[in-house]
Order: sequence, then structure tokens, then C-alpha cells
Amino acid sequence: MAILVRAGAKALDSWRPLLETALPGRDFRFFPELGDPAAIDIALVWQPEPGLLSGLPKLELIVCLGAGVDAIIRDPSFPRHLPVVRLVDPYMTAAMSEYVVFQVLCLHRQGLVYSAQQRRSEWREHPQKNAGERPVGILGFGTLGQDAGKKLKALGFDVAGWSRSAKNVPCIPTYAGAAGLDAILARSEILVSLLPLTRDTDGLLNARTLARLPRGAAIVNVGRGGTLIEADLLAALDSGQLSAAVLDVFHTEPLPPDHPFWRHPRIVVTPHIAADTHPATAIAAVVEAIREFEAGLPLTNRIDLDRGY
Ligand SMILES: NC(=O)c1ccc[n+]([C@@H]2O[C@H](COP(=O)([O-])OP(=O)(O)OC[C@H]3O[C@@H](n4cnc5c(N)ncnc54)[C@H](OP(=O)(O)O)[C@@H]3O)[C@@H](O)[C@H]2O)c1
Repeated sequence: MAILVRAGAKALDSWRPLLETALPGRDFRFFPELGDPAAIDIALVWQPEPGLLSGLPKLELIVCLGAGVDAIIRDPSFPRHLPVVRLVDPYMTAAMSEYVVFQVLCLHRQGLVYSAQQRRSEWREHPQKNAGERPVGILGFGTLGQDAGKKLKALGFDVAGWSRSAKNVPCIPTYAGAAGLDAILARSEILVSLLPLTRDTDGLLNARTLARLPRGAAIVNVGRGGTLIEADLLAALDSGQLSAAVLDVFHTEPLPPDHPFWRHPRIVVTPHIAADTHPATAIAAVVEAIREFEAGLPLTNRIDLDRGY
């Protein structure tokens, strides 16, 4: 049987030699060269085109070549009976934490304010809290959220986490479920979203929830763009309810050139680069998923289709 590999053209150039070395003798089909669709039993995919997976009649396993599976499962024709494994790679986790720590430090140390002052040649000091006086809330306290939270905690920030199910993380207060959401919002001067995009998190950052944050709070959205209602963010910045937003993910990617976020003085835009898949390290997780599947073992990073992540 054959393994389909579908990723962007540049990523495919990286995946091809790694896969051929790690799994010698296997029949790989690098998209768009599918050959006979009925020969494919495993698909390694990132953002597959709608209908691609449902067009593989003998498919048995889907491995997502990224941490978020939303682009795979939102395809209405997606074969819901099949197991889907998401990528968990320590390199990606570390990269995400670097991004979150960097952006939280910039917000905490008033980077936007001082950059604007420099452009005006303005020498002016502002009061500065220390990290222990800065409450940071992390929505989505899973693999990525907990690692970022622990690193922020090590820098002295007053970190808390929010997840669907209750967690017990040493030295970090945690909140869970709908009942815990308002409580973490109310304490978060900097709010980081590392939520997956699901039917429950779609539009979760909206006028109501942003209004629950302390006045002048800042947000970092690094989970998925669909979690944030963009018009509500702009209104919250205009009203002074929010002081700044750092956004790595958007409803439409690439962010269209005429989008107001590009030119907003209190929005930082990065082009979905917080934690790219790094094939050289991710290969180990991909090979492990295939090994588990072929040995009939439970799949370690299998997603729960009902939860959507
Ligand atoms: N910008 C980038 O470059 C980039 C890169 C990689 C990943 N991402 C995004 O980051 C997301 C998180 O990745 P991960 O590896 O940390 O995933 P994960 O380990 O599955 O963690 C997801 C967390 O979100 C929580 N959650 C999900 N739905 C929730 C809800 N309705 N209410 C409250 N909490 C909820 C989960 O709660 P439980 O713990 O209770 O299950 C879990 O703590 C990905 O899905 C992807 O969208 C972005």
C-alpha cells in the first residue's frame, strides 16, 4: 500500500528525503502525483484540498503535518470514521513558547509605546510593573499552552491557564470550562489564546469576552484566527478597553493587503509563523504514528473528532 504526502511545495522538498530515509522501500505518492487512489492507505497532510481524503477509498490513517487539525475536519466530505493523528513535536512546542514569551515581554515592557515614541524622537518614561505584578492568562492549556505558561512563570509572570477539562499544574492556577472563563478573563492583563478552532471556540474572543478583561489589557492570538471576532477587536481597541493586540493567525490567510489590521498602530501582525512545522524534527512523530498504527497500538496523538481537536 502507498503513503500520500500532501504539503506545500517547499515543505514537500523537505519531507521527501526525510521520509524516504526514515521509511525506506515504502511507496510514497507526493501530491499532486497520486497514482491509483485505491492504493493509498495512509495520508500525511497539511491543509488538504476539500474532497482529497474522501477520494481515497482504502484510506485508513490520516496524519496531520501540523498541530491544528481544523483545516482537515472542516471539509464536509472528510471521512469521519478514520483516525486522525495531530503533530506533537518538541521543536514546535519550543518555537511556540519562544514566540509567546517574546510577545508577552514586548507587551509587558510597553514595546509599542516606546517604538512610537522613538519615531517621534520623544524621550518619556512610563511607570513599569515587574513581571510578578503582571497577570497573564493562557486560553488553551494543552501541549503548547502549558509549555509557554511554565516558561512565562519562570520569568516571574503571574500566569494562569484555562482549558476544557480541569488541570493540576504545579504553581500555576488553572480554570476550566465555561464556568472558569470569566474568572480567568477578569484577571488577565495579557491574554494569550492557544485554543484550537472548534465549534466551541469559534468566535470565543468577542465583544462580551473582551469586555471581561481588565481595562487596557492586551491580547496575543496565536491559536486560530476564527477564535477572534475581528470587528469586536477593532472596537475594543478604539474604545480603550484593549491597549494592544498581537496576531499571528487570521480569518483569511494571507491577510489581505487592504485589511485594517496591517496599519493599526496598536496591532502587531505576523504571518502565521509562531511555530512552523519543522520536518527534520517532526519526522520522528510522523514515523511513530505510522509505527503505532501498523502495530495495531493505540495512537498517541489521535484527535477526538467529537471535541474537534
Ligand atoms: N500560530 C501557529 O504557528 C500555531 C502552531 C501550532 C499550533 N497552533 C494552534 O495551537 C493550537 C493548540 O495546540 P496544542 O498542541 O497546544 O493543542 P492541545 O494540546 O490539544 O491543547 C488544546 C487546549 O485547548 C483546550 N480547549 C479546547 N477546546 C476548549 C474549550 N472549548 N474550552 C476550553 N478549553 C478548550 C484544551 O482543553 P483540554 O486540555 O481540557 O483538552 C487544551 O488545553 C492548535 O490547535 C493550533 O490551532 C498555532
